[in-house]
Amino acid sequence: MAGFCRNAQGVACLGSAALGELLDRAAVPTPAYVYDVDAVIAEAESLRAGIGLAHLVAYAVKANSAGTLVRAGCGADVVSGGELALALAAGVAPGRILMSGVAKTDAELDQAIAAGICAIQLESVEEVQRVAARARAAGRRARVSLRVNPGVAIDSHAHVATGHDEAKFGILRAELGEAWQKVDAAADALDAVGVSAHVGSMLQTPGPYLESARVLCDVARARRARASLEIIDFGGGFGIDYGDRPTAPPAAFGSAAAELLRAESLGDLRLVLEPGRALVAPHGVLVASVVQGKLSGSRRWAMIDAGMNDLLRPALYGARHRIEPLERPPGGALYRVVGPVCESADDFGEHALGDPLPARVVIRDAGAYGFSMASEYNGRPLPSEVFVSDGSVTKLSARPGVETWVKRRLDA
Ligand SMILES: Cc1ncc(COP(=O)(O)O)c(C=O)c1O
Repeated sequence: MAGFCRNAQGVACLGSAALGELLDRAAVPTPAYVYDVDAVIAEAESLRAGIGLAHLVAYAVKANSAGTLVRAGCGADVVSGGELALALAAGVAPGRILMSGVAKTDAELDQAIAAGICAIQLESVEEVQRVAARARAAGRRARVSLRVNPGVAIDSHAHVATGHDEAKFGILRAELGEAWQKVDAAADALDAVGVSAHVGSMLQTPGPYLESARVLCDVARARRARASLEIIDFGGGFGIDYGDRPTAPPAAFGSAAAELLRAESLGDLRLVLEPGRALVAPHGVLVASVVQGKLSGSRRWAMIDAGMNDLLRPALYGARHRIEPLERPPGGALYRVVGPVCESADDFGEHALGDPLPARVVIRDAGAYGFSMASEYNGRPLPSEVFVSDGSVTKLSARPGVETWVKRRLDA
């Protein structure tokens, strides 16, 4: 797999110098996200081929909503009207889109019903009647699936564990009977096509994923004894190795899921997987300029022009990303790398940047939950985005100047 971020062996392969030249040639202002589009497409294709084309890889758009990536050949898992509109506009067929989310507004439900998407994932008993009412009002039928809370706790940061019994997501197993009853009572408006689960993010091995999937298979079998079912959606959550935790590749999760379905004698159902992070995170980097160093007591700081508003994960989850000089290999003096935002949480941890400090650094594995979580906090415009294919820049969205932000806030 070609790419400047990592090759199949995990080694950065379009040398840092080449990445620097590419950014200089395109005159890209930092901070800048740079994505290897070919690697994302290859990752998605290999997962799709691995599980079989009759099944569906529904890319979790929240991970990175760039149209280039949404168009990479997968279906889409969306969680808002905005993401739904984007997926449709990017050319994803409605029959390959699922909508999750615990608080879908009436307008968002109307949008999904009008588009005729593959399934609206119902996350509560209360939502059953809301969707039925919106479908009746539109004079249409809505395809729905029940998102089951599998009651599986995973070894991840609390903010990314979603399948335990205290989570706001999904319907508890104990309440499934009531949910199905309500779905069946609304058969004039609802087509109950599936069941789904999403146990959380950053899984290192397929173990907890399969634990949740087994619960879902039991739910599917019980439902099938009484009614028909088309799809079974095991969710996303495949982790990646951010440099410190060896992690199974997406294909390992995919083949384990397909195998489980066969072993559970449910192989005729359409399997849906909803990976986000694993398809894009390793294939994107955030390049930042070093603004200045600071020696304070015994601590050496490197102040960079990317902050928590550009890459929130370290402040939000305590996540650690590898940070290396752009134009030379990492090594030498350790620096505490921090951004410009006026928050102590704006801290990317200690990294071997060496002396003298490099002019630019590259923050690795930033392709997912990077730009999509970026904000304009502290009056800082959103970062640049650069899309690279076959070694050339194919698309560039340069960081806007401050004028847009000033105007919007002035008018507020
Ligand atoms: C319902 C659902 N599906 C899929 C995903 C994607 O998860 P990941 O990016 O960890 O694969 C998420 C992430 O929050 C989610 O909530």
